[in-house]
Amino acid sequence: MALKKSLILFLMLALMLLVLGCFEASLGQETKAMRFQRQHIDSNNFPNGNATYCNVMMVCRNMTWGRCKEINTFVHEPLSAVEAICSEKNRTCIKGMKNCYQSRYPMSITVCRLRRGSRHPNCTYTTSPIIQQHITVACAGVPYVPVHFES
Ligand SMILES: *[C@@H]1O[C@H](CO)[C@@H](O)[C@H](O)[C@H]1NC(C)=O
Ligand SMILES: *[C@@H]1O[C@H](CO)[C@@H](O)[C@H](O)[C@H]1NC(C)=O
Ligand SMILES: *[C@@H]1O[C@H](CO)[C@@H](O)[C@H](O)[C@H]1NC(C)=O
Ligand SMILES: *[C@@H]1O[C@H](CO)[C@@H](O)[C@H](O)[C@H]1NC(C)=O
Repeated sequence: MALKKSLILFLMLALMLLVLGCFEASLGQETKAMRFQRQHIDSNNFPNGNATYCNVMMVCRNMTWGRCKEINTFVHEPLSAVEAICSEKNRTCIKGMKNCYQSRYPMSITVCRLRRGSRHPNCTYTTSPIIQQHITVACAGVPYVPVHFES
């Protein structure tokens, strides 16, 4: 009975997130590559001037669970273009690792910053206008794909 209820709740939540069109619920363990995509890839939206974009996206990409993530960047480019950065020339990461790569071309990004005074669970964000910027990611694994957004 309780199980059935929580299953229904889970399905409703999954449906809601799908309707919002911003979160692909996945079963099983999330890999670092999947985590990177959830947190940083939003190929289909171009939210220029949409002030509520970050408030919506930070929730539906599950970055306000337990605590409000302070800052997060969304990249509005095809996943393949972002993955291709891993075949650029490497550069040293901020923390000293050698597996960082900067995009050869500027990419369209939106930066979400937690508003001062915003308290969990009410995580409210400022949404930057779309910025065209070279981005740097760290890559790992087989296939060799982005696993961390550096800057
Ligand atoms: C703003 O962005 C959010 C998240 O992508 C979306 O749900 C909403 O419809 C957008 N609002 C406008 C006015 O485009
Ligand atoms: C959101 O993230 C938390 C951990 O940060 C996890 O426990 C939870 O299952 C995630 N929720 C969804 C809907 O994926
Ligand atoms: C690029 O990677 C190679 C091999 O891991 C390493 O020797 C080199 O120092 C790296 N270059 C930079 C700028 O980090
Ligand atoms: C979150 O914000 C809503 C609307 O502003 C408010 O009604 C609610 O009390 C707030 N919750 C907390 C825990 O601050």
